[in-house]
Amino acid sequence: MDPLYLVLRHLTSPVVAITTAAEGRRNGMIANSAQRASLVPSVPRVSVYISKINFSHDLIYRSGLFGMHLLRSDQWDLIWQLGLQSAREVPDKFEGLQVRMGITGCPLLVDVLAALECRVVNAMDTGASTLFLGDVVSVEKGQEGAVMTSEHFRAHMPPDKRAIYETRLAAAQGKLEDMAHDINPARGWPGAQAMP
Ligand SMILES: Cc1cc2nc3c(=O)[nH]c(=O)nc-3n(C[C@H](O)[C@H](O)[C@H](O)COP(=O)(O)O)c2cc1C
Repeated sequence: MDPLYLVLRHLTSPVVAITTAAEGRRNGMIANSAQRASLVPSVPRVSVYISKINFSHDLIYRSGLFGMHLLRSDQWDLIWQLGLQSAREVPDKFEGLQVRMGITGCPLLVDVLAALECRVVNAMDTGASTLFLGDVVSVEKGQEGAVMTSEHFRAHMPPDKRAIYETRLAAAQGKLEDMAHDINPARGWPGAQAMP
């Protein structure tokens, strides 16, 4: 793997599950680019980079809603279900998962360490992805446990899943390479329902 990419891996976040819904379609995916995005406790905010080629991307852009979930360090199956397949390949990625509706109408996962319900307040085009900034509008804590960090994920991923993960990552990186150069600074956050 590219040596610089390996250094940059130290800057990845815990492994979180992102959920969203728009126009009758709900979905979830996995991300390791989540950040606390506000230092002000009374204005809680988070951010996350979502690749433009992910099905979830356009759902978040349309609805302006996403759920961000901290996972326990044993929640491997959830990561495979949401992170190693796309909604373009399966009809309902939530099949078998307990899902509840948040106050905004965003679907949220029940069996997690913590669920943050977020409303997008700004977005930045990064070429290959969009950085969504969200106000946290509700928080619910679930069963206690250790957090699924990226370090834990990479160290303990079983070999068969590692092979799938690395193949899918390389394929996504190939598709995103040209897009990554093409940043449109004017493409900010027009508000929910407005696809660029
Ligand atoms: C550990 C891990 C971390 C990931 N991090 C991100 C990320 O930060 N941003 C992103 O857009 N995709 C990320 N992905 C990839 C998406 O979860 C994956 O492409 C998913 O299949 C997208 O689903 P969708 O097309 O149904 O939206 C990650 C996947 C895994 C397994």
